Amino acid sequence: MTPARTGDAPAPAEPPVAPTLPELPELPDVPARLASDGPGWHREVDVVVVGSGVAGLTVALESADLGRVLVVTKDVLATGSTPWAQGGIAFVHDRGDSVAQHVRDTLIAGAGLCEPAAVEVLVSEGPDAVAELIERGARFDRDLAGDLLLTREGGHRHNRIAHAGGDATGAEIERALVAAVRADPRIEVIEHALVLDLLPAAGGFAAGVGGVVLHVMGAGSRAGTGAVSAGAVVLATGGIGQIYAASTNPPVSTGDGVAAALRAGAAVRDVEFIQFHPTVLYLGPDARGQLPLVSEAVRGEGARLLNAAGEAFMADRHELADLAPRDVVARAVMAEMTAAGTDHVFLDGRMLGEETWRVRFPTIWQSCRRQGINPATDPIPVAPASHYFCGGIAVDLDGATGLANLYACGEVAGTGVHGANRLASNSLLEGLVFARRIAAALRRAGAAPAPTAEDGRAPGLVDRSLVAPLQQAMSRWAGPLRDADGLTACVVALRTAAAQHHAGPGAVPGLEAWEAGNLLTVATAILTAAHARLESRGAHGRRDHPATDERWRQHLLVDRTAEGWRRTPQPLLPGPVR
Ligand code: SIN
Repeated sequence: MTPARTGDAPAPAEPPVAPTLPELPELPDVPARLASDGPGWHREVDVVVVGSGVAGLTVALESADLGRVLVVTKDVLATGSTPWAQGGIAFVHDRGDSVAQHVRDTLIAGAGLCEPAAVEVLVSEGPDAVAELIERGARFDRDLAGDLLLTREGGHRHNRIAHAGGDATGAEIERALVAAVRADPRIEVIEHALVLDLLPAAGGFAAGVGGVVLHVMGAGSRAGTGAVSAGAVVLATGGIGQIYAASTNPPVSTGDGVAAALRAGAAVRDVEFIQFHPTVLYLGPDARGQLPLVSEAVRGEGARLLNAAGEAFMADRHELADLAPRDVVARAVMAEMTAAGTDHVFLDGRMLGEETWRVRFPTIWQSCRRQGINPATDPIPVAPASHYFCGGIAVDLDGATGLANLYACGEVAGTGVHGANRLASNSLLEGLVFARRIAAALRRAGAAPAPTAEDGRAPGLVDRSLVAPLQQAMSRWAGPLRDADGLTACVVALRTAAAQHHAGPGAVPGLEAWEAGNLLTVATAILTAAHARLESRGAHGRRDHPATDERWRQHLLVDRTAEGWRRTPQPLLPGPVR
């Protein structure tokens, strides 16, 4: 399989010397496809979109005139990561701002690993994409003159982040897009349906993807396992946060699209870069699952981080102080916690006053009040938690993967725009911009369903009880700071757990076992990449390789072949650098 490349630019004349890859420890056995009852029903559509966040719903709306469009979502349309996005959407709007400045901030935050051409696309096409979102009904916060209110977050050198409902930007965007999809009779929606796997085109996956196998959880004419043949499959399944014990991500973020793509032979790129958000509300040492976020926009409005001694510590660490890029702040918070022997620091937003807290940050205000914290009078206890998957399924500038007819968009996709560390509030923008590009590519290429082939892959399952040990191991050894011994210990822990849990009583076809199989697959890919990258860069910190290494200014592709997991360094493409 030829891994997807971003952009059409020619390969660099002199590719950098490929870094030497360390030998891999023996990896866990992961399912080749997820076992289920055979499909009891069959459908044909032109485009199937898997996932219903900003990326998936925008692809569906943009391609509704192309034919039969089906959106499949694991819960109801309005769930997923998008509604949880607090800070906002970054785009060039203000007269004092420019595409060049937003590009530069994105490249700096990305720590040398962004694809410049992809960033250029993101930033230059962003304003039109946001204008269209506003036409679709999204209502952003405005001043009395009707101008958008703009704020800042980490890594931005200009106020360019629009927000809605104070700190409920994602929820407002999701509301508007769900309403638009519901109002469009050309788009069919199947809710409560997990896509188990991709279907091979006639000729197998080497010829491309022919559709999806899905399981609808519930009663009705489409209950149970079914097959959908489609001219194009667009994966927009969001993130992978549930591989960690504590995350800002909702429970549905189990990496289903990444795992299905890997099982079909697609490559993922830069999956070792998992962004930890530095200010997640600290709920005690045993807090697990989805934890409440305290948006960077709070720091954008003036709040400061304090250590256990009540001292501000960011000004000495970065020219942007508390608004340094997110990886810098997360590392500084961890260093302060280690130095003081504590498991949290504090975010001091007392200067904002109660009125601002209530109006500008109503969601965070409520989260804090539920814990008995009054942010207008008390510093908020915060600690880092997993937040965003910077890499993803390797795609080009049109969202096309290395498998024909398979596209990926949003957090599941590795477009190259985030590099080693995503710039705050670029992700909603990425979902919008690349969704529009996928629809345009489908319009050019056409997307009519074609025959599919028998799926010859051996079915497998893991027991759902694998999930807790997997999350513990990943949190302990594969967090923001890693080393070879810890990563190897994590691989061994996953391998042992997977071996024990393959044939357990919970290894029966069903949502939890399927999600467990996906989490194991995604975690294995991440460990493979994190073990190989012998440097510290952006969100990937290595205690045993603390410096950034210019030889490693390369992407890392991971895929599964008949021989096992494969790691392939991939030079960045030459492109406009501002
Ligand atoms: C935040 O509001 O701090 C998170 C925004 C983002 O992840 O882009």
